Amino acid sequence: MKRIGMGLVGAGFVGPHHVDAVRRLGFVDIVAVAGSSDESGRSKAEALGARKGYGSFQALLDDPDVEVVHNATPNFLHYEVTSAALAKGKHVVSDKPLAMTSAQAKRLVNEAARAGVVAAVTFNYRGNPLVQQARVAIARGDIGTPHFLHGHYLQDWLLKDTDYSWRLDPEKGGPSSALGDIGSHWCDLAQHMSGLRITHVLGDIATVVKQRKKPRGSRDAFQAGAGEDGELVDIRVEDLASVLVRFENGARGCFSVGQVCAGHKNDLVLEVCGSKASLRWRQEAQNELWLGHRDKANELLPKDPSLLDADVRRYAQLPGGHQEAWADAFCNVMREIYRCIAEGPPYPALPPMVATFEDGFRANRIVDAILESAADGGAWTRV
Ligand SMILES: NC(=O)c1ccc[n+]([C@@H]2O[C@H](COP(=O)([O-])OP(=O)(O)OC[C@H]3O[C@@H](n4cnc5c(N)ncnc54)[C@H](O)[C@@H]3O)[C@@H](O)[C@H]2O)c1
Repeated sequence: MKRIGMGLVGAGFVGPHHVDAVRRLGFVDIVAVAGSSDESGRSKAEALGARKGYGSFQALLDDPDVEVVHNATPNFLHYEVTSAALAKGKHVVSDKPLAMTSAQAKRLVNEAARAGVVAAVTFNYRGNPLVQQARVAIARGDIGTPHFLHGHYLQDWLLKDTDYSWRLDPEKGGPSSALGDIGSHWCDLAQHMSGLRITHVLGDIATVVKQRKKPRGSRDAFQAGAGEDGELVDIRVEDLASVLVRFENGARGCFSVGQVCAGHKNDLVLEVCGSKASLRWRQEAQNELWLGHRDKANELLPKDPSLLDADVRRYAQLPGGHQEAWADAFCNVMREIYRCIAEGPPYPALPPMVATFEDGFRANRIVDAILESAADGGAWTRV
């Protein structure tokens, strides 16, 4: 099989997971890593076993051995890096959100179409075997017609006023924090699993921690807080939100997101209630799918390839009883993306399990609509 060269821009928290995932595929070379300075590019390349380290993303894009660019930079760089990579004819794997605003995301959809390359967004929860099982079951009608989708995505890493991230700075993270960062995952997952688009939203957003102590140096996400000597800054983006949702088939929904909810680490939950049965998937117990029934006992389906649909089985990498996790699902997404890259040109369309730039744009658009709704005092707003 032809080997494919990848380059990573932004090696903080999630970037190294991109490298781990593609390394598992067996036919991808980790060509280069670009950091925000020569020194960080070099040291991150060394730490990740990449052949070359660059001090700017432009230098990485000039490298002819880099065929696929993984964009894992903070949100404010997403448009610039992705757009420049597409202009050079590189394939792009962008981490979410696709861009800071839906206007930028729309431009990237058009630029990717013009470039004729493979362009994907890492809405990685799609890669979980039981998410795919739920999607196939809903499409087949196992739960009847969905009429209510609900859940949450709660975390606690921004609970204290000494917790800080670039995600809280609108210049770097965009006009939203919790909704853009994790609400986008919930909305993408709800639409993907149900096969239904969100058409209208009504949002109530809040900034619980209104002032924070910002660290004086730079740091990667989820590192320990600033301590008491940080610079006191006002926070203008939400860290908590609750949203009412309507789907295209008339189904109703609601979800809450928050990064200030003690005890919740990466607590993403989605339940779909239909006319015959319900399904629930919880990220923190991702090897089980709950099936709710009216006239018989509820069930827990374990992630056991022998119990999954034939089309879904390939996403379970291990036999029953062997727990799989976040990184395995991430790798499933990368496997599908690189399968398409390896086949082309002409490149086949990405399979439904992988979020396209169009899906990324849609997630951006939903977040924008929620912000518009909240600014309107909680008015129903069309996506
Ligand atoms: N799919 C997921 O589940 C998931 C999880 C976490 C983060 N993300 C997304 O990934 C992106 C990065 O998030 P993170 O948590 O890894 O943030 P992070 O702050 O830990 O990492 C970002 C890295 O980018 C580097 N960087 C900054 N400017 C740069 C430049 N000009 N050139 C090259 N590198 C530069 C920083 O030094 C840092 O190492 C965000 O858009 C976030 O939304 C996605």
